Amino acid sequence: MPCGAKGKCGKCKVLFHKGAPDPTPSELSALTESELAQGYRLGCQVVLDRDAVVYLRDHGRKPGDRILTTGVTRQVPLCPLITKRFAEVPEPTTEDLRSDVDRVLDSLDVARDESATGLAQVRRMGSVLRESEYKVTGVFAGTDLISLEAGDTTSDCCGVAFDIGTTTLAGYLLDLNTGAQLAVAAAVNPQTRVGEDVISRISHTMQEADGLRHLQSLVVTEMNRLVRKLARQANVSRDRVYEAVIVGNTCMTHLLLRVDPRHLAMAPYVPAFSRSVTLDAAAIGLGISRLGRAHVLPNIAGYVGADTVGAVLATAAHESDSTVLIVDIGTNGEIVLGSRERMLACSTAAGPAFEGAHIKQGMRAAPGAIDAVWMEDGDIRFSTVSNGRPVGICGSGLLDAVVCLR
Ligand code: FES
Repeated sequence: MPCGAKGKCGKCKVLFHKGAPDPTPSELSALTESELAQGYRLGCQVVLDRDAVVYLRDHGRKPGDRILTTGVTRQVPLCPLITKRFAEVPEPTTEDLRSDVDRVLDSLDVARDESATGLAQVRRMGSVLRESEYKVTGVFAGTDLISLEAGDTTSDCCGVAFDIGTTTLAGYLLDLNTGAQLAVAAAVNPQTRVGEDVISRISHTMQEADGLRHLQSLVVTEMNRLVRKLARQANVSRDRVYEAVIVGNTCMTHLLLRVDPRHLAMAPYVPAFSRSVTLDAAAIGLGISRLGRAHVLPNIAGYVGADTVGAVLATAAHESDSTVLIVDIGTNGEIVLGSRERMLACSTAAGPAFEGAHIKQGMRAAPGAIDAVWMEDGDIRFSTVSNGRPVGICGSGLLDAVVCLR
């Protein structure tokens, strides 16, 4: 629902063949006389109070939705927070009465006073040691022992990176031993059901008693589905995914952490938090290792979020001697200009500009969207997503069309 069911955008048209209700004021202004006469109404405005036969234009998100998950990469030093070490631990004897924790830390070559071991680990350490015949792998977050696993599991050490967009979610599974990307998966952000833009989502949290919890649950459920898909693709257990790094625009990170985003919609548009957040993945219901950690990168401002920080880090613009321009055209579009000396950032609602409310036939890159337009022998040609019957035009098609027709 591009306008959050406010009856303004006209993008939720349905066709009544029988039982059309009287048009509402929104329908009278959003639809033409001819459309109203044919039986068109706005799906978000209709209250069904009689038997009806209704044809729905397909607004559903299908597997054919096109989501960009590839790009150029650059070399970065591999320095994961999570590391693993295997050790054969000496069994206790009357001459060696060290505690299980000290015995393990000594064997793993970790200074006892520099490492914290959680109570959950202390509770299960005795049985893991004895059941594995004292052959164990320690999982460390920095110097803290977060898990002890039976046997040598050092080769299975993964992390997942998420980009939570207003419209799409992308997940990347990485091998923390090598830095290799093992799998990629993407999906439509299920929060689009309650509104296509961040303002509609914020309104939902303010108008519905459980709106914030609902939006958080939608996105985490989809992220967990992606984690399962990534793990299947790479043939690794979700229990061996110990770390998640998450970016998203400021509203998306607020919703993920179930932090009230309402002040993002009110001048002067300040976020509730802007620093990076590290927490137990289980605290937000993320289905990786139950001892895994999640890191949400910092936001820059109310409408320039952690995804922009990710773009700066990925391009190393902040280390550049020359001036660099980064343009991220998503549903929210951000632009960063700068170098190692100074960086400036700003944002605007790019999705609606290219595909949304005021482009009459605009739509996302779903099956049937015109995604490219070109001239050939004096004729206009076009292609559509999934070679479907053309049903609208998405941002790339629109830009092509402007170039062709100028
Ligand atoms: S008019 Fe119905 S969603 Fe915008």
